[in-house]
Amino acid sequence: MVKEVLDQRELQFEFAKRYFEDFISKRSYMIPYLKPQETPTLLMDTEGIKERYEEMRKHMPNFKIYYAVKANDDINVIKALAERGSGFEVASSEELSKVMSLKVEPERVISSNPVKPEEFIDYAYSVGVNRFSVDSFTEVDKIAKIARRARVYVRLVVPNEGSDWPLSKKFGVDVDTALDILEYARERGLVPYGITFHVGSQCNNYRNWFIAIRKSAELWEKARSKGFKLQMLNMGGGIPVKYTYEALRIEDIAYYIKGLLQKFFPNPPYELQIEPGRGLVGDQGIMVAKVIGKAKRNGENWLYIDTGVFNGLAEALGGIRYPIYLDREGELKEWTIGGVSCDSMDVIAKMVALPEPEVGDYLYILSTGAYTTVYASNFNGFPKPKVICL
Ligand SMILES: Cc1ncc(COP(=O)(O)O)c(C=O)c1O
Repeated sequence: MVKEVLDQRELQFEFAKRYFEDFISKRSYMIPYLKPQETPTLLMDTEGIKERYEEMRKHMPNFKIYYAVKANDDINVIKALAERGSGFEVASSEELSKVMSLKVEPERVISSNPVKPEEFIDYAYSVGVNRFSVDSFTEVDKIAKIARRARVYVRLVVPNEGSDWPLSKKFGVDVDTALDILEYARERGLVPYGITFHVGSQCNNYRNWFIAIRKSAELWEKARSKGFKLQMLNMGGGIPVKYTYEALRIEDIAYYIKGLLQKFFPNPPYELQIEPGRGLVGDQGIMVAKVIGKAKRNGENWLYIDTGVFNGLAEALGGIRYPIYLDREGELKEWTIGGVSCDSMDVIAKMVALPEPEVGDYLYILSTGAYTTVYASNFNGFPKPKVICL
């Protein structure tokens, strides 16, 4: 029994160690940045992001890629993708102005959050962005008032089972309501343009894509029989990256989706889109933090570090588990890793297998390229992670 527990720890630590070593060996230019003065620091690999983009293009050649800026809005991340010709999905005026500051044409920008502030719609339309998602009659009214000839695509609700970060409760409608919304949009002078869905972020369940594409085909056909000429199918995000387990590969997801499209769309949509966030940047970042304290409480080993759920690692609260590595040898113990703030919610992970650290040691948190800095606050006066794009 004791041996079994030890093996689990070894496995976990070996996984993180190998992940760290592989990551750095492919990016030797990161070595000088691994012991920064200032922590927490997020090191982002822009070449790696470009490679992920090219990998997606290679396996999904019929899809136009719109990077979901919410995942990581660092200007150098956006720039790397803009240089490769990526499109962008934005939700706010600030995201949009960052993209526009790089002279990206508005035709390369869409907005897929189904509920948008009026000021944002106004700004986006005024600079030439004219594709917006909707999933309510109220949103159609808002867009029709502000962006009179905009194109709208309707968001379907689809299963998010097996996705580590589900998104389906908040947005999306069933097929018949979606059809009513498209009809209403047409009556209000908007251009019914297409369909979108999101299978949930970090999706490791092919079935979500299966049901989503089948539902989209049902709506497509119903819309066609009512005289709509929809052009576009947008498959949202969901492409997973490696955390403490290996995720589905882009290549395999692409192959599966291709088969589904052949099966359910005998006449393929004129335009296919995906809007990955995590899948492009998630495993291209490594957060460097420092150990600031240790304690034993009720038999539990606690380790405190200088970042936390309020300044970068918010997804830990929703169940994202990051691989964590410490460059030391010795007997592995299980640690509960507490964040820097005084809030007891600020716990990054439990049962993390690590050798005994010392205060001042560097800790490496892998797969922190997406949904980290964008969530960070200055709670308790602690700094947001510094970002270095290499
Ligand atoms: C509308 C929309 N599109 C795309 C994304 C990106 O999803 P992911 O990071 O899973 O690729 C999100 C994530 O929240 C989203 O809400």
